[in-house]
Amino acid sequence: MTTDTIILAMESSCDETAVAVIKNGHEILSNVVSTQIEIHRRYGGVVPEIASRKHLELINIVIQEALDQANITLDDVTHIAVTYGPGLVGALLVGVATAKALAFASGKPLIGVHHIEGHICANFLVNQNLKFPLVCLVVSGGHTNIIKITDHGQYLLLGQTKDDAAGEAYDKIARAIGLPYPGGPQIERLAKEGDASAIELPRAWMGDDSFDFSFSGLKSAVLNYLNKAKMKGDEIIPANVAASFQQAVLDVLVQKTVHAAEMNGVDTILLAGGVAANGTLRNQLQKAANEKGIQVYYPPVEFCTDNAAMIGAAAHYKAVNEEYADLSLNAVPNLSFEKLLMERGQA
Ligand code: KG4
Ligand code: ZN
Repeated sequence: MTTDTIILAMESSCDETAVAVIKNGHEILSNVVSTQIEIHRRYGGVVPEIASRKHLELINIVIQEALDQANITLDDVTHIAVTYGPGLVGALLVGVATAKALAFASGKPLIGVHHIEGHICANFLVNQNLKFPLVCLVVSGGHTNIIKITDHGQYLLLGQTKDDAAGEAYDKIARAIGLPYPGGPQIERLAKEGDASAIELPRAWMGDDSFDFSFSGLKSAVLNYLNKAKMKGDEIIPANVAASFQQAVLDVLVQKTVHAAEMNGVDTILLAGGVAANGTLRNQLQKAANEKGIQVYYPPVEFCTDNAAMIGAAAHYKAVNEEYADLSLNAVPNLSFEKLLMERGQA
């Protein structure tokens, strides 16, 4: 395809109502994110029913804002794209139903995007010079995966978490030490004031050459430490808990990702997902990778956490291949990346 793509992309899988207009996969004509974090904070986490209601209230306003900021109308758009899974079913449905209605009314092709593929493609949004093959660590509130990318849309899943996602562990530990939701940025900030070697915590390596993860043992170890200290009346220093917990997570993420790149003869690592906003992770991964002659790239923070620009970037490569969805596209809350690759014959 030689003509330009101008994609109106929507993302509503969790607690951000986001719409972007992306030209040719990398020109960000607009990127509007209306976050519900303040609303959910008082409950200590995302309340699914409230999230869907808020998406419904906001989606049309955010779409209009994205078109206005891009200085275009719906007529100028070539494709409509939307996240269809995984995520909260009611939240996803708002985006999917809106995208289908717009595609039907305007006669424009509809593109369904897997949320993880969106996170990965945030890298292509800001960096057009990446050379395949690549290894990407996707770390968010719902996912922890190491993925080999051989071309746009061509993936091989090297490893994934067997229980909690890294961001989920951050959020749970933050809650246990009294920090507000979302816990990741709070732990990162507090950890800077703490001693990472103060508390001995386990690292789950899952076998020598495994690229799988497990964070539930670490989570239990921190909760046990807190309970024991409380029972004995020992002083708990939250900064030390944050620093020791974070280092236990980062040691595993960094070592496995660099090892995965080495084992696969790949010299470029990408970071993606909400936890990729973590500066300490970025620095430690960069240092460990550079020692092995491997380069690390990551998107700016606003494209790491949930946004629709990344969905527009992922949709561009599907538009080029005319990989369109029809109006039977549905929200799939538990859409696994593994299953998606199997359906595409890539697993
Ligand atoms: O990608 P995202 O916005 O939503 C999902 O797809 O899950 O990721 C949200 C997750 C939350 O668990 C949040 O605590 C975590 O990313 N996060 C961080 C940081 N910023 C966001 N975790 C660690 N350090 C950060 N700076
Ligand atoms: Zn996400």
